[in-house]
Amino acid sequence: MNMQLAPASVLDPMETASIDQLRAHQLERLRWSLDHAYQNVPMYRQRFDELGVHPSDLKDFADLARFPFTVKNDLRDNYPFGMFAVPQHDIVRLHASSGTTGKPTVVGYTQKDIDTWADLVARSIRAAGGRKGDKVHVSYGYGLFTGGLGAHYGAERLGCTVIPMSGGQTEKQVQLIRDFQPDIIMVTPSYMLNLADEIERQGIDPHTLALRLGIFGAEPWTPELRASIEARLGISALDIYGLSEIMGPGVAMECAESRDGPTVWEDHFYPEIIDPVTGEVLPDGQLGELVFTTLSKEALPMVRYRTRDLTRLLPGTARPMRRIDKITGRSDDMLIIRGVNVFPTQVEEQVLKVKQLAECYEIHLYRTGNLDSIDIHVELRGEHQQLGEAQQKAVCSELSRHIKTHIGISSRIVLQPAYSIKRSEGKACHVYDKRKQAV
Ligand code: DLL
Repeated sequence: MNMQLAPASVLDPMETASIDQLRAHQLERLRWSLDHAYQNVPMYRQRFDELGVHPSDLKDFADLARFPFTVKNDLRDNYPFGMFAVPQHDIVRLHASSGTTGKPTVVGYTQKDIDTWADLVARSIRAAGGRKGDKVHVSYGYGLFTGGLGAHYGAERLGCTVIPMSGGQTEKQVQLIRDFQPDIIMVTPSYMLNLADEIERQGIDPHTLALRLGIFGAEPWTPELRASIEARLGISALDIYGLSEIMGPGVAMECAESRDGPTVWEDHFYPEIIDPVTGEVLPDGQLGELVFTTLSKEALPMVRYRTRDLTRLLPGTARPMRRIDKITGRSDDMLIIRGVNVFPTQVEEQVLKVKQLAECYEIHLYRTGNLDSIDIHVELRGEHQQLGEAQQKAVCSELSRHIKTHIGISSRIVLQPAYSIKRSEGKACHVYDKRKQAV
């Protein structure tokens, strides 16, 4: 496994700046960004005025808590371009989230924003151990989703050869991975599993491929899944974090030399952790909701944007900038099952403890009378598909025991034939909540 240490000479100066230099840079940029939002976005001017705060009130980081939060609905309410801070003719790109219901959220970029984004994704790929000349296979979706184009421009910026595959066409993807021999793949972890199955189905030994690094993100994934992907494919799997409202992929990236959670590129994004209920700012190290204020974005400055992602801020290791812990999940993804709070990643953790089971799973929730019931659909790994009935039963009771012990809920395990659970081609859907229909 490749654990390259990036020589200091190849890093951006801000990656090695001292904490004092970084904080001074952030404070100056924060003032600029708050002022930019106040001067150019009517919603921010109105909110700041209502709260009686002015950008000039920001003397120190603690003053940021006096400024209002921004939430996803603000973008919807100002659909499509109402939160843009520059004239339309300065916007060179739009992206949008599909949004499961109602209007999508639309984000825009100036040329300078696109350049910063490319620089930060290039920085991210380099932090993961990628170098100029590497071939990068991009399987994040191209289009309105920020994953494909974000990865693409960053890989080009680093001087890599990009294979702009996008999502889907799984058989073709594997053919190209075999023929073009990319060094790096950028894809959601769940689609990587789908590709790994297809690699095996085509009779290719993954260890004979040139792939050495996977840059995985866009959805929560556990350390257990990292271990499984690394073992199956013989690659190093690192975590890239981002969200369209703040930029896209490359807001934070895990460094190859420390593998201890994504480093936030704090020279462009100021992170806070808040109590999701009270909105109070929490000290570093405490678990809460991640909030970002952009420091350089021209087209769409974001003031204290509530990501809904639950994590904590940790001290810098490979870089002086702070890290985020692996995202447990989004507060919207938290399931309440018979009064117990459950994140899908907790189920993933338990599924991967049972060695006969494949990594994919579905959580089906029902309501019978007043009681919730939970079915967990899993499948045997290809090499275990011939297990007899008694052994299958043992596999199911092992999983249900782990779930009871570690999560605290009773569940019914539904063991499906190998390769029968629907595979992801982008962000995986793990939860089918049928309780609401039953009410
Ligand atoms: O998913 C941007 C992206 C593309 C990131 C490719 C990484 C790689 P959105 O579609 O706006 O943007 O979704 C953002 O996805 O708030 C998190 O809930 C989740 N997410 C993104 N990266 C990670 C990660 C892209 N590494 C939302 N771990 C975020 C856990 C992640 N969740």
